[in-house]
Amino acid sequence: MDPFLSDHGGDPTRAALPPAEFYRSPAVHARVIERAFARAWHWAGEEALPPPGHARPFVLAPGVLDEPLFFSSAPDGSRVACLSNACTHRGALLVRASCKNASLRCAYHGRRFAHDGKLVAAPHFEGARDFPAPADDLAAARWSALGPLLFASTHPACDFESWLGSLRTRSAGLPLERAELDRARSRDYEFDAHWALYVDNYLEGLHVPYVHPGLNQAIEFDTYRTELEPWGALQIARASDPRDALEFPNERDIGGLYYWLFPNTMLNLYAWGLSLNVVLPLGVARTRVLFRSYVWDRARLERGAGAGLEQVEQEDEDVVTSVQKGLRSRLYQRGRYAPAHELGVHHFHRLLARCLNERAS
Ligand code: FES
Ligand SMILES: [Fe+2]
Repeated sequence: MDPFLSDHGGDPTRAALPPAEFYRSPAVHARVIERAFARAWHWAGEEALPPPGHARPFVLAPGVLDEPLFFSSAPDGSRVACLSNACTHRGALLVRASCKNASLRCAYHGRRFAHDGKLVAAPHFEGARDFPAPADDLAAARWSALGPLLFASTHPACDFESWLGSLRTRSAGLPLERAELDRARSRDYEFDAHWALYVDNYLEGLHVPYVHPGLNQAIEFDTYRTELEPWGALQIARASDPRDALEFPNERDIGGLYYWLFPNTMLNLYAWGLSLNVVLPLGVARTRVLFRSYVWDRARLERGAGAGLEQVEQEDEDVVTSVQKGLRSRLYQRGRYAPAHELGVHHFHRLLARCLNERAS
């Protein structure tokens, strides 16, 4: 077990929280980015897939991985590839803006690629031996979708469906496909705190009665529960008022389903739609969180657990930045898990420890 988890890491009744050093160390932070973020699935941004015969560039995990990629749709629409946007010659960006993809030409030395990333021409390379090789084609990333949300990964530690866990089946009865991005209800937040403190806070409902008086009225705190999944955690809150509940065949009166997917994606399902939160570490003590609202039932907005999200976010930000300051203390070492309430936090730390301990591949 990585030294940041105590010897009792597997048992939340005995384990200790990560030491303050985990949240302060730039070296550990850099390792987490390479081991956890670079091998994770990430939201691929709010634009839709390009139409047949077109390519569209995007940057995966901006500010963190800054991985340049592009989606490329086959001319007959039969396939969409997610490809590296770094030219295989000297790495120039190939696709600078949405364009037709019949022949993608690098602006630096004229190398050309087909819509599927195959190298088709490399001017001035006469005499190069064993050329072209498969490595001269554009590398492919993996991508997948959940309703209107696109996700991609260059080196995923697990396949997309394993990452989603029960989210795919659990959301099957919801009208995800017709959820539309509401830009007026979407915004980015930035604050001075380690990204994992934001995730720690998200993964426990223990603070709700103390930090979120408004939200606390909308849910039945006594019924709040956490279910662990291989790559995530689900928190379920029952609605105080059944009229604000999500409707599922086997489960009633759900005010909100809060999915966290390792390491930095949160998908919150409410009666009105879906709130996506993407946590982007900009540095060891600076975090950006993207909030995007996808609405399928406008009439149910601003009711129950899914109301006042901006207020809830401010309350969370406030408490997380307070923890960041507390962790500077030379007198604070590490705390303990509340076993009945912080199972999600413990699970998150174990997944992090596993990533840090795995051999880099
Ligand atoms: S970098 Fe693209 S052709 Fe040289
Ligand atoms: Fe909170």
